[in-house]
This record gives sequence, structure tokens and C-alpha cells, in this order.
Amino acid sequence: MNLESLIEVKNLKKYFPVGQGSFKRIFSKETDFVHAIDDISFAIKKNEIFCLCGESGCGKSTTANILVGLDKPTAGEFIWEGISIPFNELIPKKNDIKSQIIFQNPFSSLNPRMTLGDNVLHSLIIHDKVRYSDTQRRIRNAKYSEMIMVISTIISSFLFIISFLIKGPLANFSALGSIILFSIALILYFYFSWLQKNKILDKTVLEKFNEIGLSPAEQFYFKYPHEVSGGERQRVSIARAIILQPDLLIADEPTSMLDVSCRAGILDLLKSLQKIHGLAILFITHDLATARHFGDQVAIMYVGKLVEKGDVKSLFLKPLHPYTRALIESIPSTSLRKGDFNLPKGEVADAIHPPTGCRFHPRCPIVDYELCSKIEPELIEKQQNHWVACHYPLL
Ligand SMILES: Nc1ncnc2c1ncn2[C@@H]1O[C@H](COP(=O)(O)OP(=O)(O)O)[C@@H](O)[C@H]1O
Ligand code: SF4
Ligand SMILES: [Mg+2]
Repeated sequence: MNLESLIEVKNLKKYFPVGQGSFKRIFSKETDFVHAIDDISFAIKKNEIFCLCGESGCGKSTTANILVGLDKPTAGEFIWEGISIPFNELIPKKNDIKSQIIFQNPFSSLNPRMTLGDNVLHSLIIHDKVRYSDTQRRIRNAKYSEMIMVISTIISSFLFIISFLIKGPLANFSALGSIILFSIALILYFYFSWLQKNKILDKTVLEKFNEIGLSPAEQFYFKYPHEVSGGERQRVSIARAIILQPDLLIADEPTSMLDVSCRAGILDLLKSLQKIHGLAILFITHDLATARHFGDQVAIMYVGKLVEKGDVKSLFLKPLHPYTRALIESIPSTSLRKGDFNLPKGEVADAIHPPTGCRFHPRCPIVDYELCSKIEPELIEKQQNHWVACHYPLL
């Protein structure tokens, strides 16, 4: 057991069953699987930024989702501060595991019907961190009064029209009903406006808004997600995660959907929060240049496998795996060395029927077909804290 590790993930696997055509399903009992994660192990230390990198579809998000309990693994072990935790207990609400996730798209991860303040407050409410407060009551009352107001308006309009179409005492009754219901709708409208004006702010949320650079916090509190920029929305997602005081923050490509101008700001914010709160961060990215500047440790993933991992300095200075080297050399306009290892041509391997032996062998510039296509290389420590899975590492 590594005493410094906050989490250890051992032999993690995730195979997704995939649908077959109905004809094939009748005659075949075999099911195909997407080998999204195929036996990966890594550890993240306290106060460390661990970057998980790889091309699209290599299994990064699936790893993140499993670690916060959003998906169940096919196999594997999860150890939190030296204690083995069953994967089905990883949902933070159920126990003391303090991990939170920030998703790639801040627009779909925030509730569009809630103000930014309520989005963050809601996170405290569902984790039972705040009692049934005035703010919660306001949210509930606003929701109900809005609903009743709309229904009353529709019914009163309907009755009003009916009162003109029919004759006799029923017409009077209908007209009276429409007046009463319209009055109720009017009263609720004023009550709803009053609730909006007499906004009750939650102090903890305000403090977080100031901390993540959304100021004046009082103004941002009552804005809706569509009223702010992508960068500001992602800051709110960060506030929503940080307010629960996690020990591990998982950031799944948090800047990839943002304008280039916002990206540096979000990365700086994450770095300063990591220092202030002593967080460990699992930072997922397909951009190696970001990993190089942001991370302490880095792991390179290829079709569900880890092909190389180590500390950022040694991995970028002297990559051992041909895939890592090709990725590094393809980073545009960097001070990193340029060489003959262009990013391999061809498609990323099929995760349903991955290549035999080394999964990278169909694209590898130094492949030895005899060995590489038959025997799968193990991830071994070639240099101190520098691991590689290759029969011919670039030493
Ligand atoms: N729910 C699912 N059902 C079937 N296949 C899935 C599912 N989720 C992800 N996959 C597949 O698993 C692989 C890894 O996906 P993902 O973890 O999202 O990759 P990344 O985040 O690295 O782009 C991909 O081939 C993807 O198509
Ligand atoms: S094991 Fe063989 S095919 Fe795979 S990366 Fe190493 S040299 Fe290339
Ligand atoms: Mg992803």
C-alpha cells in the first residue's frame, strides 16, 4: 500500500455490451463488447495533479464516470486512503468519499431552470449539507406559484370564452369562475414578483462566487446559465464542486468547449484552488500541451490501455513509448524537440475488436510484427517512476 496515495485504481476494466442486428441475435449467443477500459492501474497522491491523456474514444470519460459512481466497472479495485471501497459505494452522497466531477460541457451540466446561485446551492442540498432553509422554501414557493399562476390563467381564459358561447345561469357561473381564477393568477403573479425581488442569498454560495472570480457575486447569483458566458458557466460548475470540500476533483476536459481566451483563466483557477484547498485533481485532456504545463503526473491512454505513465518532466523530456513520442512531436510550435515520429497514420484501433498483441502495432513506426502483433507488452517501470508498455522502449 502506498501511504501517500489518496486513491489507487487497480486492474480497472469496463466492457460495454453492444447491440447486434436482430437476425444475428437470434442465431448467435455471443455479444460484442466495447473494450472501453481494459485493465488499467494508477494512483493519485494527495495535492497532486494527475493528467490522463489520449485521443478521443480511448476511455478517459468512462474512467472519470466510474470514479464518481456514475458508471459501474466490469472489474477492478478502488482504494481510498488505503481502504478498499466497493465501486457501487462510490457515489459521494452515500458515504464519506469526497470526490467531485466537473464535466466538459458546462451548459448541459447546469440546470437551465435554476439561477446560478441555486445551481450551486442545490449541490449542498442534495448532499444534505444544508438544512431546509429559507432559500429552499423560496425555490419551492416560486416553482409552485409559477405553476398555479399559469394553470389559473389558462382555465380562466377558457371559462371567459365559454361564458360568451353559452346562455343561462351556466354562463353567469362560468363568467364568475373566470373572474375568480384570473384574480388568483394576478395575486400569484404579484407574490411571484415579490419572491423574485426579496431574494434571499446564501452566504456560503456568495463566498464561493467571490472565490472563483464571479463578482459582483450578488448579480451573478440571480442570473440564469444562458445569461452568462461559457467560461463563467464553467466557473459555476467549479464552485458547485468545490463547495462540497472534496479531496479529489475530477475535471473531464473542462476547457475543451471554451473559447481559447477563457481556457487559461479556468486552468489558473483550478491550479490556485488546488493549492488553497490541498486538492488532488484528476485532469482529463486530449491536449498534451495543457497536460505538460498543468500536471505533475501524466498517463497516456490508447484504446483502453495505459501505454505510458510517469512524472511530467521525464515523460515529456524523454518519452519511452512510440505513441507518446509521436503525440509530443505533433504538438504545434512548442520548444519540444521535433523528429521523425509524426503522428501515426491510420485510424485509432477498433475498441470492439482491438488488435492482438500491442494495440498500437498497426500504427507503430518501429513495429516488429513477429513479436508485437502476438504478445501484449506489460506496463513496467523502466526508469524511476516512469512506466511504459512496449517491447522496444525508446531508451
Ligand atoms: N454507454 C456506452 N455504451 C457503449 N459504448 C460506450 C458507452 N460509453 C462509451 N462507450 C465507448 O467507450 C469508448 C470510450 O469512450 P469514452 O470514455 O467516452 O472516451 P473518451 O472520453 O476518451 O473520448 C468509446 O469507444 C465509446 O464509444
Ligand atoms: S510493442 Fe511494438 S508495436 Fe507496440 S509500441 Fe512497442 S514497438 Fe510499437
Ligand atoms: Mg470524453
